Amino acid sequence: MEIAQTIVDIRRLVGVAKKAGQTVGFVATLGALHGGHMSLIERARKETGFVVVSIFLNPTQFGPDEDLDEYPRQEEKDLALCEKADVDAVFAPSVEQMYPSGHCTVVKVEGLAEKLCGANRPGFFAGVSTVVAKLFNIVGPDVAYFGQKDAQQGLIIKQMVEELDMAVEIRMCPTVREDDGLAMSSRNAYLDAGQRRQASCLYRALQEGKKLIESGQVDRDKVTAAMERIIKDAGPCSIDYVAAVDSQSLEPATAENRNWLLALAVRIGRGRLIDNIVVEIPGAK
Ligand code: PAJ
Repeated sequence: MEIAQTIVDIRRLVGVAKKAGQTVGFVATLGALHGGHMSLIERARKETGFVVVSIFLNPTQFGPDEDLDEYPRQEEKDLALCEKADVDAVFAPSVEQMYPSGHCTVVKVEGLAEKLCGANRPGFFAGVSTVVAKLFNIVGPDVAYFGQKDAQQGLIIKQMVEELDMAVEIRMCPTVREDDGLAMSSRNAYLDAGQRRQASCLYRALQEGKKLIESGQVDRDKVTAAMERIIKDAGPCSIDYVAAVDSQSLEPATAENRNWLLALAVRIGRGRLIDNIVVEIPGAK
């Protein structure tokens, strides 16, 4: 496995692979790799010839009061995990390498980026779409893999790729969960033992929403109220949002929508946790 810290180096490595006729698969991460990241890497390994993983804790997607300083960093361990997963090249640039002269160019996908997480974290998705655009330009992948855990991020990146005519295919991968249903996340490390047990309420709430919809409930307020109850009953927390939206437009869900995205963001202790599931509406066209 090669490790590149500069743009010149990763371009050279990818260039050699492309010349040899290999398809390039790419997984972008903030580091602190866990089973969710590894599932994306494994899929890239199966489906493409040359697998690149980026490890870059991107400062521009964190707000001034957010957890950039606390975010877990474990580069040695991450590199060992990549090596074990048979990754071909890791791109681990410094902040100066990615943003050498300040930061004046921003890629912003309007509309989608203001909804759900965008409402609570202004500037977050502009930070994400800008860094992903840069990473795509640097790495030049044929296929890039993203997790359904960050459903809104996936939709925004797909729209950016389409509208900026980027020659990369986006493949979404299912959310990987712990045994009690909690979605794997680097931020789960912020939870103490009690909060960790409490956090399983997110998945239970999503399952309750699904059950209601599948039994014919298409009043979105009733669905989200039942979900909120489960979360509030589980212990102290602060709910950023619990939403039932159309899975593509992220507009409030109606009985006409075929697929509802049930999505939530909840703060438990120091952790802001997000999760979602897609539910098919019985009988919708
Ligand atoms: P990060 O949170 O490190 O996640 C990297 C990728 O792993 C994303 O595509 C995310 O959706 C996926 N992922 C995280 N947890 C997952 C889980 N439990 N199951 C399946 N996939 C999971 O998302 C980011 O980083 C950043 O915003 C990034 C795209 C790297 C831009 O900086």
